[in-house]
Amino acid sequence: MSFRERRLKVVGVGGTLREGSSSLGALRRALAAAGEAGAETELLDLRGLDLPMYEPGRALDDYGPGVGRLVEELRGADAILISTAAYHGTLAGVTKNALDFSQFLSGGEHPYFDGKVVGLISTAGGEQAGANATGAMVHVVHALRGVVAPLEVSVSKAWQRTDRSGNVTDEVYGGRLDALGELVVDLAGGLAARNEETGLVEVAG
Ligand SMILES: Cc1cc2nc3c(=O)[nH]c(=O)nc-3n(C[C@H](O)[C@H](O)[C@H](O)COP(=O)(O)O)c2cc1C
Repeated sequence: MSFRERRLKVVGVGGTLREGSSSLGALRRALAAAGEAGAETELLDLRGLDLPMYEPGRALDDYGPGVGRLVEELRGADAILISTAAYHGTLAGVTKNALDFSQFLSGGEHPYFDGKVVGLISTAGGEQAGANATGAMVHVVHALRGVVAPLEVSVSKAWQRTDRSGNVTDEVYGGRLDALGELVVDLAGGLAARNEETGLVEVAG
């Protein structure tokens, strides 16, 4: 089906295992903006998914439902929002482990994140590690053949800018997250149109 006859799908992946995660709150905000921009959205809260560690050689069916859901949602996404906490100067292990499961998307005509737009978000206690975390994720997304959106949002001093539930309370950062959510929908629509016009993607029916 042509993307013109369906809603674009934006999948948000992120948060930490901490209750009231600020990186999850930042993701919720950007994903809500993507929904407002007309996309169908799906939130994958890493605390809720309860993923085991990725194990090379282990079959997808041998993992629990959380891994299956993660892989299928990533496969079906037109755009992905990834939100991590900064741990020890870079992205948190829980985020990288989730991304390692994209190995199950290595086959097919459009492997990994090929043809998908990816928006990057981080939260950090200090002022530098968030930018490192989103920078590191750029390398990951490029390795996975995704298109990184040209706006990254790093919520520095997140303890000042989020509430106890992780919601972003600083509207400067809230506005940036809204802009990112809108941008990934806009870019995903443009990419889908280009791919259909150039025949890079087969359009059924
Ligand atoms: C193990 C650990 C390591 C951290 N390392 C850093 C760091 O290197 N730089 C920094 O600015 N904040 C660091 N922080 C603070 C977190 O980035 C910050 O609290 C973030 O908002 C947590 O995200 P969350 O609320 O989604 O869990 C660290 C926190 C933890 C728990």
